[in-house]
Amino acid sequence: MPKMLHFAWFGAPGAHYWNLPSSRLYDWKRGELYMDIARLAERAFLDMVLFADIPAIPATYGNSNDHYVKHGLEVHLDPAPILAMMGGATRHIGLGATLSTSLYPPFLLARMMGTLDHLTGGRSAWNVVTSASPTAAQNYGQDDLPEHDTRYDIADEYLDLVRKLWNSWAPDAVLEDQERNVFADPAKVRPVHFEGKYFRSRGPLTVPSLPQREPVIIMAGTSPRGQRFAVTNADMVIAHKNSVADMKTYSTKLRAQLAAAGRDPRSVKIFFSIKPVMGDTEAMAKERWALNHDQADAESGLSYISAMIGIDLAKLDQDKPLPPDLKVQGMIGKLLQYTEAKKDMTLREIAKNEGMHETFPICGTPEQVADIIEQTAEEGGADGFHFRTKVGDIAYLTEIATKLMPVLRKRGLARDSYAGPTLRENLFAF
Ligand SMILES: Cc1cc2nc3c(=O)[nH]c(=O)nc-3n(C[C@H](O)[C@H](O)[C@H](O)COP(=O)(O)O)c2cc1C
Repeated sequence: MPKMLHFAWFGAPGAHYWNLPSSRLYDWKRGELYMDIARLAERAFLDMVLFADIPAIPATYGNSNDHYVKHGLEVHLDPAPILAMMGGATRHIGLGATLSTSLYPPFLLARMMGTLDHLTGGRSAWNVVTSASPTAAQNYGQDDLPEHDTRYDIADEYLDLVRKLWNSWAPDAVLEDQERNVFADPAKVRPVHFEGKYFRSRGPLTVPSLPQREPVIIMAGTSPRGQRFAVTNADMVIAHKNSVADMKTYSTKLRAQLAAAGRDPRSVKIFFSIKPVMGDTEAMAKERWALNHDQADAESGLSYISAMIGIDLAKLDQDKPLPPDLKVQGMIGKLLQYTEAKKDMTLREIAKNEGMHETFPICGTPEQVADIIEQTAEEGGADGFHFRTKVGDIAYLTEIATKLMPVLRKRGLARDSYAGPTLRENLFAF
């Protein structure tokens, strides 16, 4: 009996969609695109649509915003209001937003995610990031971000506080007893009076107990400190790994860390990034992959990774690998991908790789792709995969929904119904 897997659609609600053919059908700034994405993902029985976010147009590459603005890179809408619209257009699909613990006040985030969880009947997820962008910090009036590991210390306290706020209403506090004229039992709604090292908040939340009690907590950091944060806080992790061996190392270590921390090693769902390239025949798929590779914009890849690690890579020798001793305050996990796992790749090759948005190459007919997915999950220890793509690429989503998912379902590798009304129920159904 094959192991059933989970699938998510992941990307930023951004302008980078502007030069795709389907941008002639949809305006990326309007709700129709995102509502149709959600409906289609739900018809394909994906677990969730998850939005990436960086609330800044970077100024890393070439030391200015110009390259990013010119090509519509990292030009994003705010994910949270879009999710509310998507929730109104669907009934089952999970809906996740990336939001930063270094930028948003905890009360604001707890209230907004609480609202989203109610609006969607318990389908919200929060991808917790600590941010790697000094530009984002400056947008929010800070001089710079705190140092990498300190950001996770702050985030630990942040999670503690928002959880207290979400639990400031007991699940049975609301009575709505019209005869007695009692909305809620005041004994079951308590201020939190939180006084931490970094945050203070009074509470209670203005939002009653959430359908899921707490949104599904997702985490993507893979640095040693990031992984410790995931072990304490996450329900799900999303990781970029270039090979099955790297996936296996990561999942084995994470599950061992969970067990050592007294958590069930299966209580965190592990997702890896994929972006399969498919064709009706293997030759056609390979041809498509080669075309994608030729057309991939290496400069946008270079500017993306520059922004992620906070170093202008245009200044380095493109024919050499990334120096292993780079001092990075940004995404250390992303750096490690190319200084440890793929340390022989030259910067030029890394740029192409990032330009393709491809971490783990998969190419073939839908049947072959399903074979690879099954084998990768088994050997790499994955519970699921997220399609890493331009989120508004509805043509690619249609291909996944109509060609790949039916094959996976037929083989018992993907669900053909939702287990319950909440994302948490669906995520932990198998
Ligand atoms: C699949 C994936 C998606 C991510 N999405 C975002 C994002 O939307 N916004 C963001 O600021 N960081 C994003 N990150 C960065 C991580 O959340 C994390 O901040 C980064 O990896 C730095 O943490 P680390 O040094 O512990 O790896 C993502 C990382 C991965 C692997």
